[in-house]
Amino acid sequence: MKNVVALFFSPTGGTGKVVKSMARAFATATGCDYLEIDVTLPGTRDSAPEFGANDVVFFGVPVYIGRVPNLIRPFFASIKGNRAIAETVDETIDGGIDGAIGIPVVTYGNRSYDDALIELRDIMEENGFRTVAAAAFPAEHSFSTTLARGRPDEKDLLLAEEFAKKIAEILKNNPHYLCGDHTPIAVPGNPPPYTYYKAVISDNKSIDIRKVKPLTDISKCTGCGLCARLCPMGSINISDPSITDRICIKCGACIKKCPQGAKSITDHDYLEHKRLLEEEYGNVIKKAELFYTT
Ligand SMILES: Cc1cc2nc3c(=O)[nH]c(=O)nc-3n(C[C@H](O)[C@H](O)[C@H](O)COP(=O)(O)O)c2cc1C
Repeated sequence: MKNVVALFFSPTGGTGKVVKSMARAFATATGCDYLEIDVTLPGTRDSAPEFGANDVVFFGVPVYIGRVPNLIRPFFASIKGNRAIAETVDETIDGGIDGAIGIPVVTYGNRSYDDALIELRDIMEENGFRTVAAAAFPAEHSFSTTLARGRPDEKDLLLAEEFAKKIAEILKNNPHYLCGDHTPIAVPGNPPPYTYYKAVISDNKSIDIRKVKPLTDISKCTGCGLCARLCPMGSINISDPSITDRICIKCGACIKKCPQGAKSITDHDYLEHKRLLEEEYGNVIKKAELFYTT
C-alpha cells in the first residue's frame, strides 16, 4: 500500500478526531505513510485531491440534516479514487485499474445519521473508490454542548483505532479486495433520492433556518478575527467579525471556538429545535456503528 489518508471536513473537530485516529492506526499497522488532508477551510478546497491504486482514504464528514453537507457535496464529488470500470479500462490511467480503497465515515450529533452514510458511500463509489468498510460515530452536536457531549471520547477513539486495524487485517488476508470485482460495503440508509431530515418544532411546524446567522456580542468581541479565519464558508468579515457577509451553514465553529464566547444564534426556531433535540436525545448514549466487508 502507498499512502494512508485522513481526509475530512470538520468545522467543530469531531469528525477530524475520528478519521485521524483511524488513519494513523491503519498506517502504524501497515507501515505505510500517513497523510492528513483537512478540507474544512475554503482555501483548502480549491482543487480536489486524487488517489489511485493502493491508497487508502478514510473520508470523514459530519451529518447535516440527515445528509452529506450539501454545500460541500460538489467538492466531495470531485475527489477521485480512479477505479476504472471494466468497459473503460485504460491501464495508462495514473494509479492503474484498481483504484483507491475508501472508507466512508460520518459523525452525527446523537439524533441519527439517516441517509448520510449511504450517500457518502455512493459518492465515493461513483468516483472510483473501492469501499470495503464504513462507520458512523456520535460526536458533539454543532448546535449544542450537551448532545453527545465530549464525544468522540477516549473509548470512541480506541474503537476507531481497532476498526482501522481490523480493516488492515481484512485487506491483508483478502488481497482480492484491492483489485478485480468489487461489491460496495453494505450500510444502512435509503437509496437515492436520499431523504433530508425535516426538523419540526411545536404544533408540527417545520423550521427553515437557512438564513439564520450568528450574532456577535460586541461588548465581548475583541475583533481578533479568529472566527473569520475558522469559518468553513469564508463568510465572516475579517475587518469586522460582527458581520457575516455570506451564507452561514450553522456549523458552530465560530460559536464554539470564540475564546470570548461572543458569538451566538438567538433565532427562535433554531433555539426551539435545539431545545427539543436536547430533550429527546440529551440523555441517550449512542454507540459507534462499524461495517466491514465479510
Ligand atoms: C446544519 C446541521 C445539521 C445537522 N444535522 C444533524 C442530523 O441530521 N443528525 C444528527 O444526529 N446530527 C446533526 N448535526 C450535528 C453534526 O452532525 C455533528 O455535530 C457532527 O459530529 C459535527 O462534526 P464536526 O465536529 O466535525 O464539525 C447537524 C449539524 C449541523 C451544523
